[in-house]
Amino acid sequence: MGSLLLAAAPALAGPVDDTLVVNDEIEMTTRTAAPEHLSDVMDEVISGWHFRGDETRLMQADDFDNPGMIFVEQARDSWGEVEGTEGKSCASCHNEPESLAGVRAVYPKWNEEAGEVRTLEMQVNDCRVNQMGAEELKYTSVPMQSMVALISSVSRGMPVNVAIDGPAQETWEKGKEIYYTRFGQLELACANCHEDNYGNMIRADHLSQGQINGFPVYRLKNTKLNAAHDRFKGCIRDTRAETFAPGSPEFVALELYVASRGNGLSVEGPSVRN
Ligand code: HEC
Ligand code: HEC
Repeated sequence: MGSLLLAAAPALAGPVDDTLVVNDEIEMTTRTAAPEHLSDVMDEVISGWHFRGDETRLMQADDFDNPGMIFVEQARDSWGEVEGTEGKSCASCHNEPESLAGVRAVYPKWNEEAGEVRTLEMQVNDCRVNQMGAEELKYTSVPMQSMVALISSVSRGMPVNVAIDGPAQETWEKGKEIYYTRFGQLELACANCHEDNYGNMIRADHLSQGQINGFPVYRLKNTKLNAAHDRFKGCIRDTRAETFAPGSPEFVALELYVASRGNGLSVEGPSVRN
């Protein structure tokens, strides 16, 4: 493992020292003390924003420059559109999207009635199917990720605060196990890159802590919104392993665990990355 990274690591390039204020208005906590459950492994948690180049970071500081906000605007239109057999739109029950402020920060979240941990995508589809009589949206599709981006955008600046105890604990433990499992021919776990080597260069990329407070992420590379599960899939593929599917129980558990590693960081979604 060491050889893969160190051979490709010309220099240690730590997180860029900078502060993020969006629209001169929303002050983001992009570095903060690590949550207690991480105290054995790290002191500080750092948003992926600090590991990107100057131009990319700047794009996230103003909604006019953030290409992810175009998708948020599209979702604002869908919000009021009636769909399905019940003649309802999201607005029929939730009024303005702003009524969901704070929701992004606590998801994935245990749903008592369903007896499961739900991601935002799962909850949106539950409302579509059971409240509206509409079709499910595909997990990583543009309309789904745009809706998730809209719901995230109204929580920007609020601290991520997912619950990891009580009924969510079992799922959290499962996600933690996946995080430390070595995958593929390269035998690399998430932790080998994002815990042991953040700040280092891997190939041409500046390794971050792999936080998900900025999701969905607009990537300049593929010019669309990317779901957290898309990123998980890509990272596991890079280890040359078979991977889990977006929306699978394994990725839901991994999302809860990874989200909890960022408890205390601000919700940034939709963020901009390369
Ligand atoms: C017929 C009413 C109805 C419609 C239409 C509806 N929802 Fe919901 N939604 C609910 C109810 C009821 C809940 C559960 C409230 C709770 O958990 O406190 C809920 C919960 C949610 C939550 C989780 C809130 C939380 O605090 O955990 C999200 C996110 C959400 N809905 C999004 C949507 C979106 C997006 C749409 C449109 C695609 C939509 N809903 C359409 C009734 C509706
Ligand atoms: C071989 C090293 C490697 C492994 C193993 C790896 N990743 Fe990554 N990951 C990267 C690189 C490189 C990037 C792009 C630069 C960055 O943001 O760190 C990235 C990016 C990410 C991001 C985006 C962060 C942001 O702010 O946009 C997330 C989330 C992520 N990884 C999660 C994971 C998870 C979860 C696992 C385990 C299933 C994993 N990664 C395994 C190398 C790795």
